[in-house]
Amino acid sequence: MRNLPKQSFFKNKRVLVRVDFNIELKNRKVIDDFDILRALKTIKYVSGRAKYTLLISHLGNPGEGEGLRSLRPVGVHLSGLLRKKVYFVFDKIKDLKNSLAVLPENSIVLLENIRFYSGEYANGRYVDSMFFAKELASLGDCYINEAFGESHRRVSTVSAITNFLPSFAGFNFQDEIKHLDKLKSKPLKPLALILGGAKMKTKLPLIKSFIKKADYILLGGAIANTFLKARGFEIGKSLYEKKFVNEAKKLLKHKNIILPTDYIVAMSLKSKVSHVFKTTDRQSSTAGRILDIGPESLKQFREIIKSARTIIWNGPMGYYENQVFAKSTKAVAKEIFVNKRAFKVIGGGDSTAFLKNSKLKNQKSKIPNLFISTGGGSMLEYLAGKNLPGVKVLS
Ligand code: 3PG
Repeated sequence: MRNLPKQSFFKNKRVLVRVDFNIELKNRKVIDDFDILRALKTIKYVSGRAKYTLLISHLGNPGEGEGLRSLRPVGVHLSGLLRKKVYFVFDKIKDLKNSLAVLPENSIVLLENIRFYSGEYANGRYVDSMFFAKELASLGDCYINEAFGESHRRVSTVSAITNFLPSFAGFNFQDEIKHLDKLKSKPLKPLALILGGAKMKTKLPLIKSFIKKADYILLGGAIANTFLKARGFEIGKSLYEKKFVNEAKKLLKHKNIILPTDYIVAMSLKSKVSHVFKTTDRQSSTAGRILDIGPESLKQFREIIKSARTIIWNGPMGYYENQVFAKSTKAVAKEIFVNKRAFKVIGGGDSTAFLKNSKLKNQKSKIPNLFISTGGGSMLEYLAGKNLPGVKVLS
């Protein structure tokens, strides 16, 4: 990995830093600055010496249902964190050169959402353009990738740009690789992989790559529903992914895949009332939806977590947005935190969003051997053994 050079290297240089400020905003205010905080060390390290530090990020993904949004509120928040002015710029790349040249020494500048530029994202597709990267590179003397969370995307600001500038991995980027590599090579046993949430597509490769390495693969959330369906259980109106049922069926022959034996069912996501059903009650859930794992499963999951020496967690066990169905996700998180001896890695937008809103958020910095990844898809793909575009170009 091309690590950061000494601070003196950055003296008077124009430094481009790709960050991942794809964070949650509400009423144009930042409500979760976890990813920003993790990029601060690199920003401070270079900006004290650099001519200017130009931060480049995306915000929003129309393909995932959210529109692209302006990064302006993020600039305001960052300025508060750094206690320093953060300039905000948005223009054609070729016109930015002059406005950046007149800024005072050591300025920190945030460029408007890079996905507003068709050289990065166009017609709902990621773009990795040599032409755009070269244009962007003319604004800098060197480039740093501090956006591990975006490094699974083949885009100009992660991949092509490294062809035109001396390129390095930021501190958080290096930290991510160091911790995730620990899971790939000789993890301490027993190893428990806990997966929940939806999106079989992103989680199946991880299940497959850990099927021989993990002692336990605990499944909750909508992923478990697809496996329950594959096992032949009636899951009523529960969320599941039909196209993955066959693949789930094949994986079920592995005894380390642990499915819930009971679950919480309700008529709607907003329900205040719920019922517990066992997977043996065949017709039980036909009228409702599975929205959490049940107490018997939770007990089993907790015991496995307690005994594990390596734990990987990605995705909630149930529909945690409604407190009625958040119980097992909370209990799983708590059990992971309590296991002080185990090396623990938590990742994925939903797991980190859950932690942020739970009482556990103040404890996480005090938990030994805990690493919270800033990656969602990138963490899953990296652990599944994929050669991420952003990692490849810096290796
Ligand atoms: C994330 O939030 O996981 C990263 O920023 C990646 O976002 P993307 O899926 O829109 O590329």
